[in-house]
Amino acid sequence: MAEIIDTRTEPDRAIEQARAVLSEGEPVAIPTETVYGLAADATNPDAISRIYEMKGRPRFNPLICHVSDMAMAEAHVTFDPISRRLAEAFWPGPLTLILPQRPESTVHSLASAGLDTLGIRMPDGFSRQVIARFGHPLAAPSANTSGKISPTSAAHVQADLGSKLKLILDAGPAEIGLESTIIKVEDGTLRLLRPGGLDAGEIENLTGCVVMRPESAGATIEAPGMLASHYAPGAAVRLNAEDVQAGEALIRFGGRPLPGEGEATIVLDLSPGGNLREAAANLFDYMKQADASGARTIAFGRIPEEGLGEAIIDRLQRAAAPRG
Ligand code: TXA
Ligand code: MG
Repeated sequence: MAEIIDTRTEPDRAIEQARAVLSEGEPVAIPTETVYGLAADATNPDAISRIYEMKGRPRFNPLICHVSDMAMAEAHVTFDPISRRLAEAFWPGPLTLILPQRPESTVHSLASAGLDTLGIRMPDGFSRQVIARFGHPLAAPSANTSGKISPTSAAHVQADLGSKLKLILDAGPAEIGLESTIIKVEDGTLRLLRPGGLDAGEIENLTGCVVMRPESAGATIEAPGMLASHYAPGAAVRLNAEDVQAGEALIRFGGRPLPGEGEATIVLDLSPGGNLREAAANLFDYMKQADASGARTIAFGRIPEEGLGEAIIDRLQRAAAPRG
């Protein structure tokens, strides 16, 4: 099992150990405000290979590079004016920008999967200090086996990848609980490659531009990580349930009971008070709990489509998609 260091009680040791393991070319699981990441030196091809190997992830899938400050970002990518504005407004935070990689950037092509762009973000919280100390961008997908639910706690990471990892930094439950929103600016048009922890409506309010949505879930090749059956729990998933069958787990929203829920293996409410931020933060953990209840199917109550509901529904549709 991996060593777990609590960053709240031992911040200095956490940073030093992470630096040491990363310098050996080994991945470290780090807490970000979105989900826990499986981080490795983005300039070291062997280290990046270890990420793909641990996750069992297809090689064609590019990774997000995490930076600690604007100077580090600008050493690797060029910003158009709109992207710069977004970075200034929302970094550190749950926003990834797809930007042209600079010719002199030392990020290895294994991290970008050979594209001429990089997915880049400045995370909030403890991971930012780890990156600053390490001094190079960290490539980090979510710290889970490919296709499984993203981890929002150190315990989730330990249960899934603990036998392969040396070190997990534990900063408590992820504050946002959904992966970052991915935006690509092209000829002044903002394209949403993945809805996520930053509400696309906030981006529209800031820029005064419409954010173009992908045609349908999983349709875009621009973000090849967006495979239809991502985020799959073990159980089948049924959306917009109006009632519950015996043997199903129920995950509902807004404190509304559903007929038949007394027969459910477990009943969880993403946010009894109807708060979408709270719902996002609970989503992946509740999917894991529902899975662990032994249910053959997880029934989800209806989620409102506004704000972060867009990203939550995106993840649920992927979880409900045919597997394979
Ligand atoms: O919140 C997050 O974004 C988390 C935490 C750890 O930061 N990371 C994360 O990474 O979700 P990952 O690897 O699971 O998702 C990366 C997504 C994929 O859909 C990938 O295709 C897309 O970003 N991506 C990365 N680089 C890209 C590029 N150059 N062009 C288009 N899409 C890119
Ligand atoms: Mg992932």
